Amino acid sequence: MRLYSLILFVFFAALTIQASAQRSHELFDEGWRFAFGHAALPEKDFSYSLRTVYSKSGGATGTAIDPAFNDSSWRKLDLPHDWAVELPFVQVDSKEVESHGYKAVGGLFPATSIGWYRKHFVLSPADSGRRFEIQFDGIFRDAQVWINGFYLGNNKSGYLGVNYDVTDFLFFHKENIITVRVDASQYEGWFYEGAGIYRHVWLNSFVNAHITTDGIFAHAEIAGERAALTVETTIATEGVQAAGDSPVEVVAYLTDRDGRKLATGKPVTTSLRSGNSRTFIQQINVKQPRIWTLEDPYLHRVVVELKKNGKLIDRQQLRFGFRSIELRTNGVYLNGKHLKILGTNNHQDHAGLGAALPDYLQYYRIQLLKEMGSNAFRTSHNAPTPELLDACDSLGMLVLDEQRLLNSGPEYLGQFERLVKRDRSRTSVFLWSIGNEEGFIQGNSTGRLIAGTLMRKLKQLDPTRTSTYAADMANVYPGVNEVIPIRSFNYRQFAVADYHRDHPQQPLLGTEMGSTVTTRGIWKKDTVRAYLPDQDITAPWWASRAEEWWQLAANADFWLGGFIWTGFDYRGEPTPYSWPNISSHFGVMDACGFPKNIYYYYQSWWRNKDVLHISPHWNEPVPVGEQTEVWVNSNADTVTLFLNGKNLGSKAMPRNSHLRWTVQYEPGKLEAVAVRHGREIRTVVETTGAAAAILLKPSKTTLTADGKDAVVVNVIALDSQGREVPDAGNMIRFALEGDAKIIGVGNGDPSSHEPDHCVPGAWQRSLFSGKCQVILQAGKTTGKVKLTAISPGLTTASVEF
Ligand code: GAL
Repeated sequence: MRLYSLILFVFFAALTIQASAQRSHELFDEGWRFAFGHAALPEKDFSYSLRTVYSKSGGATGTAIDPAFNDSSWRKLDLPHDWAVELPFVQVDSKEVESHGYKAVGGLFPATSIGWYRKHFVLSPADSGRRFEIQFDGIFRDAQVWINGFYLGNNKSGYLGVNYDVTDFLFFHKENIITVRVDASQYEGWFYEGAGIYRHVWLNSFVNAHITTDGIFAHAEIAGERAALTVETTIATEGVQAAGDSPVEVVAYLTDRDGRKLATGKPVTTSLRSGNSRTFIQQINVKQPRIWTLEDPYLHRVVVELKKNGKLIDRQQLRFGFRSIELRTNGVYLNGKHLKILGTNNHQDHAGLGAALPDYLQYYRIQLLKEMGSNAFRTSHNAPTPELLDACDSLGMLVLDEQRLLNSGPEYLGQFERLVKRDRSRTSVFLWSIGNEEGFIQGNSTGRLIAGTLMRKLKQLDPTRTSTYAADMANVYPGVNEVIPIRSFNYRQFAVADYHRDHPQQPLLGTEMGSTVTTRGIWKKDTVRAYLPDQDITAPWWASRAEEWWQLAANADFWLGGFIWTGFDYRGEPTPYSWPNISSHFGVMDACGFPKNIYYYYQSWWRNKDVLHISPHWNEPVPVGEQTEVWVNSNADTVTLFLNGKNLGSKAMPRNSHLRWTVQYEPGKLEAVAVRHGREIRTVVETTGAAAAILLKPSKTTLTADGKDAVVVNVIALDSQGREVPDAGNMIRFALEGDAKIIGVGNGDPSSHEPDHCVPGAWQRSLFSGKCQVILQAGKTTGKVKLTAISPGLTTASVEF
């Protein structure tokens, strides 16, 4: 008995959330329950549409909304969760299902398109009297939310989050239950979108007088050695205020990243009646701030405190970089220095994970793009995950932040307002986009009017930035282009010069460029497996090859630059093929982030470092004796190619292009010797033996035991001499020891129907073009974590963290 109550106490203590003194922001991802509902059979949808859910406040007897509902048979899981990635691939004749990556989500699949989530939690009685807010960063999509049977609201957007004040509905002496019904039977895009609560959930707590959510807008003007920092803070008072309540003081200051105070604004004092909110503007003069650049993305902290009778009652802090951005007709100027936009477009999914990425993966992906030489990221075509912006702020990557739909009706105007308020203090965000390829309206007066309304809204909410719109229009002016300050082109690169001639005052940007379709490591077009040669040779009719657009953009200042479609392959939009192809081929890197050959083209001209790369691989790309084209991507001045020691000739490297040799294939060693700025550089591709061993290459050497940290482990086949085998396809099985879990496997094969998620103990993935990838997530207990990769006939490999 005593033991029993002790266990109960420990159990309760573990679940009880105690808010800290002023404000708390607790991750609420753990311990959810999940079950599929049903879009067509109400009894399988936990009676959602059989009962009158909305007729009385605080209950919906007989449904999963009822706090008394027994969910003990539901699956236990931690967020983020994307149920779409867990489903098998299905071949159906539907353009929508195809463009979403052939997963059983959408109107055709009522049994797997509604997801219910529940979470039980206990609050400390010491916290009654505080305010509580539940924050969902992103749910795909159309989420209805209840707490303790009370309806909180509906968030249609699959990309923008929502916050609900739940103070009035909470219990402090018994458990609380949140219920979420997610309806993914409609789509928002034409690409893989995931399904479920795929971003973080937070529980926020504060006192009655508090800074509102997204209630701080910080921006700065830099003039010489000084910066004028403006901090706009919205505070609100809710709940019962005692008569004669004392006024609140708002204090704003700046610190360096280690918390040392650098400058303080003049405090303001206010008395707020309950139910009111007000915004205060404070100016802070900063001497010689360390400037945020792409190479040194230094982030200060802007801190706002609320005090009552001298006592701290609320405090919020933002990471903030001092930088100036100007978009002129002859280029982008970051801190007064000209910069060309070397951008990529990306959707949010990654191999093995779908849309549910651990935070670490955001940093991993941004780092890979920076390695290639990219300096900008377009969040096509939706509000990004906040942690993606954290990574861009921290690592130095500019962001073009995009609204899902060009629409000024209340739903989308509201989404635009939420997007701008959420992201307007972000250092990395340099430009907004109000939409993409809205064919019904972009060229007419409706488009012009909607764009005008959104631009007026933007001026009120963020006067420090402007916007573009991604138009798939050639030299066309009427419509959105009449009112949009930055004119963007999706493809149609041939029309940019003409447009500039006709509208010389409008800065011009390529929002979607390139779109070469390639499959990593594949040398021949294969219409059965739906593969394309891994070379810059094929683009869909509406798009162009890399060299076609980049040569135009590189050589004209009126191009602010452009964004490649895309940085990484993503699920859905198999182009030009369909089934068995389940993901796109557009990426410069595949879905795992393994470079394709075109990567070296961009890296040659986007990065100032030695690049020398030969393709194809030399494991019989064609039969012996047949001729094949050898491409060399490099930024060297001259390149000489040797096959088995025989000189095949020297060539001067044309700028923003590549070199080719027609070579009669024989196995052996193909070597390039190049000269760059008077220095010699060399690289080799060799015919390898069969795979004999496995190499595990982790993205880092440690894992933090916080239950959240993750590591990417690349798996590479080696021959007996330790050379990478570029055409190996062996099946690899994975075993894990220690407190961690595998959360996904992938190999970048755009036609693979292998599962990305396996049952515990049975994780496996075949290599594709010699490689695959495993993603591990840490548990909470410290100690050794060991991943082992096993394949019959290959030497086993393991890696420890
Ligand atoms: C564009 C569109 C993108 C993607 C791309 C494929 O028209 O904006 O989302 O579909 O084409 O090339």
